[in-house]
Amino acid sequence: SPFWPGLIEAYRDRLPVSATTPVVTLQEGATPLVPAPELSRRTGCDVHLKVEGANPTGSFKDRGMTMAITKAVEEGAQAVICASTGNTSASAAAYAARAGLVCAVLVPQGKIATGKLAQALVHGAKLLQVQGNFDDCLALASKLAIDYPVSLVNSVNQYRIEGQKTASFEIVDVLGDAPDIHCLPVGNAGNITAYWQGYREYCDNGPATKRPRMFGFQAAGSAPIVDGAVVENPSTIATAIRIGNPASWTKALAARDESGGRIDAVTDRAILAAYRLLARTEAVFVEPASAASVAGLLQVAAAGELEPGQRIVCTVTGNGLKDPEWAISGAPAPVTIPVDAAAAAAQLGL
Ligand code: F0G
Repeated sequence: SPFWPGLIEAYRDRLPVSATTPVVTLQEGATPLVPAPELSRRTGCDVHLKVEGANPTGSFKDRGMTMAITKAVEEGAQAVICASTGNTSASAAAYAARAGLVCAVLVPQGKIATGKLAQALVHGAKLLQVQGNFDDCLALASKLAIDYPVSLVNSVNQYRIEGQKTASFEIVDVLGDAPDIHCLPVGNAGNITAYWQGYREYCDNGPATKRPRMFGFQAAGSAPIVDGAVVENPSTIATAIRIGNPASWTKALAARDESGGRIDAVTDRAILAAYRLLARTEAVFVEPASAASVAGLLQVAAAGELEPGQRIVCTVTGNGLKDPEWAISGAPAPVTIPVDAAAAAAQLGL
């Protein structure tokens, strides 16, 4: 049907809602699964991009937030809280505004992209910049949710995972079956957990006949799962995944191991190269963290560890407009001209 009611209505029978649950939706989900001809050419595979930046607040977080806010309202909450590298706070602020809830957000001071800060503020969240990193913010938010009447809507909230698993359902619904490989950026590791749960459920009890291998990619300066140790001072230009102690660490390892997958690190340089490649050739503008999935895929291919002919989906998690600084700083400065056609033509090499 041409009308998309949002993912809770679309997948109601697979989500923890009842007929009386007060659904809070911005009609999130049903995001494009775009074929990626240049990535397919480079890898010898059939690559698609799941463009999650097309969600209402510009990231995949909306899938989890429609569920988390819906359940918070159902349970009678008046206020919600989250820690965030930016996208969770943008999404929580929007869905809380829609539901008439108070929204508190804790973000690492100076380490979230401008567009995301703007979103939390414009939707009326109470925003605190914490003198610490994301891991500090999450510890603080978790403590506040225990000691005060406020619900935590980070991905440690199982309803977030339930909402986010629907991306796997959509992919199978479009492709007709699960892909062979699914690539994702990994930060707090909620999303790889959610996708794996979605693929498992859709195979155990539904239309899929197989499950993909899950490939997760962390930024090299923030790669605790790859290193096998907490990173005390995580660093990366991909601020969305600047996380040193992922809450869903063991679940990410389970997704990797149960699926026969891998979790690797990609450098900031490789992330930015993939970011530009996506924009210039596939015409998909993502934020730097999102490009980690594609950087990782290209790295595995370059290592000769990718069998050709496989069907691969890369999730690109957030919209490029959230963090435009890297687009601007990586490009030549625009030239200024007078109102003059000859001057324009000369500059354009026409
Ligand atoms: N990509 C983007 C754009 C993100 O914002 C995040 C996480 C991830 C990937 C990683 O997903 O944490 O489930 O492994 N952002 C969180 C936030 C941490 O606060 O917005 P994950």
